[in-house]
Amino acid sequence: MTSYHDEQPTVFVLDFGAQYAQLIARRVREARVYSEIVPFDISAQEVARRRPAALILSGGPASVYADGAPHIDPAILDLGIPVLGFCYGIQEMALHLGGEIPKTDIGEYGFAELEVTDTDSELLAGVPARSQCWMSHRDSVGTAPDGFRVTARTDTTAVAAMEDPARKLYATQFHPEVAHTEHGQHIIRTFLHDIAEIPPVWTMVNIIDETVALVREQVGSSRVICGLSGGVDSSVVAALLHRAIGDQLTCVFVDHGMMRLDEADQVVKTFRDQFHIDLIHVDAEERYLTLLAGVTDPEQKRRIIGEEFWKVFFDEATRLEGVQWLAQGTLYPDVIESGNKTAAKIKSHHNLIPFPEGVHFDLIEPLKALFKDEVRAVGSELGLPDEIVHRQPFPGPGLAVRIIGDITLEKLDLLRKADAIVREEIGIWDTNREVWQYFAVLPDIRSVGVMGDERTYGHPIIIRAVASADAMTADWARLPHELLAKMSNRIINEVDGINRVAYDITSKPPGTIEWE
Ligand code: XMP
Repeated sequence: MTSYHDEQPTVFVLDFGAQYAQLIARRVREARVYSEIVPFDISAQEVARRRPAALILSGGPASVYADGAPHIDPAILDLGIPVLGFCYGIQEMALHLGGEIPKTDIGEYGFAELEVTDTDSELLAGVPARSQCWMSHRDSVGTAPDGFRVTARTDTTAVAAMEDPARKLYATQFHPEVAHTEHGQHIIRTFLHDIAEIPPVWTMVNIIDETVALVREQVGSSRVICGLSGGVDSSVVAALLHRAIGDQLTCVFVDHGMMRLDEADQVVKTFRDQFHIDLIHVDAEERYLTLLAGVTDPEQKRRIIGEEFWKVFFDEATRLEGVQWLAQGTLYPDVIESGNKTAAKIKSHHNLIPFPEGVHFDLIEPLKALFKDEVRAVGSELGLPDEIVHRQPFPGPGLAVRIIGDITLEKLDLLRKADAIVREEIGIWDTNREVWQYFAVLPDIRSVGVMGDERTYGHPIIIRAVASADAMTADWARLPHELLAKMSNRIINEVDGINRVAYDITSKPPGTIEWE
């Protein structure tokens, strides 16, 4: 099978084990150049064979002198391919080409003022004489290797940037890929577009056309099945596959009845009515409610829902004739995580699908070269509605996670109504989508209240809204009091059975984002 890099100019990001490689790969793509992360020890021979248009050496946590520090194959620097090194990357270049890296033990972390000392610098063209950059290093280059010009400095770092245009080698001690470096993206663009002369042609239309061509080549005339959840990834996979192979695609939507208000209808409307995709909608709500009756343990709820999902899915999948492929919404970060030698945690995403005995499908993963924001952009380009493309993270077991205690249809309906109000009101206020996630939770308690002249004994609703970058840590969102008041009023007035509203002011840690 061909892959993207056979079709168009690719930048390889050599990964030295820091979290920066992914960020660099994204920045390169933001400059509309396709990028891939490769292991730091890729051989010069392999690089020569795959002919990337440029190389970027990422930062890394090690010292170049440490035992077992990761090192590149130095012959890579002689291939004539433009190379840009950041942080650890500049030190690797200096180490292999005869520069000096004194052990001073004076590190530099955080903001630093970058002074451009050579106005003829190719890499720093257009960067003002003084600007802000981001540093994170202990060692640094003291003397640049022969043939290199030093082009910038900071108060503590003599060689903040260096270049040897004759050999097309460029490097910075600072991190142009982080947002704190004022002209970082400009520097990356200069390297890609002006120095390496790579045209900015990586666009969403481009991604779609190429993926469509690849899928057609891979699948031929066989049939593909795709599980739809209403989430971003599976929705984009379905829309993309449909563009590629039309009615060779069948989607199965296992509706466990734990979706938010109108969500299941929207999935059906979008894929069946708008895209005219062959969609099997399995309405399994009753089946799930029966299985979950009286179950209060959160792990048990998750297990029941997960096991039943695959059972229903494979029942449908094996009923269809001639299906060879099963589509999966694997994204590039999953691929990096499972295939990267330097990543601490190795997981194999392929093994996550519990194929029943005797059942086998080949996997097709059309999004496996894309980052999440690219997946969203592809989805929009393919005509998926905003509600799907910008959908917030939502647990696979759905609202079952957000109902504490046992699950009944009445509780689901209460929560659905309250949650719809929370999402509507915060959605109107949060015009720039700055709040990471917001929803309602139904705890397993009731309390006394008074409405009109009547005593009530109803459920409370808890509103959860968090700011986060990646869901690993989170802080409760500082919503305006008026907004909280409006949601509280609406929920109590519009949702029969709710007599109190509380706002969760716990960060993560110690809390989690979900209640379960
Ligand atoms: P917690 O509650 O652990 O959640 O802070 C972190 C993020 O993960 C989401 N989440 C899930 N996402 N399947 C998913 O795809 C799940 O089963 C699941 N459970 C939690 C949660 O919404 C939050 O964004």
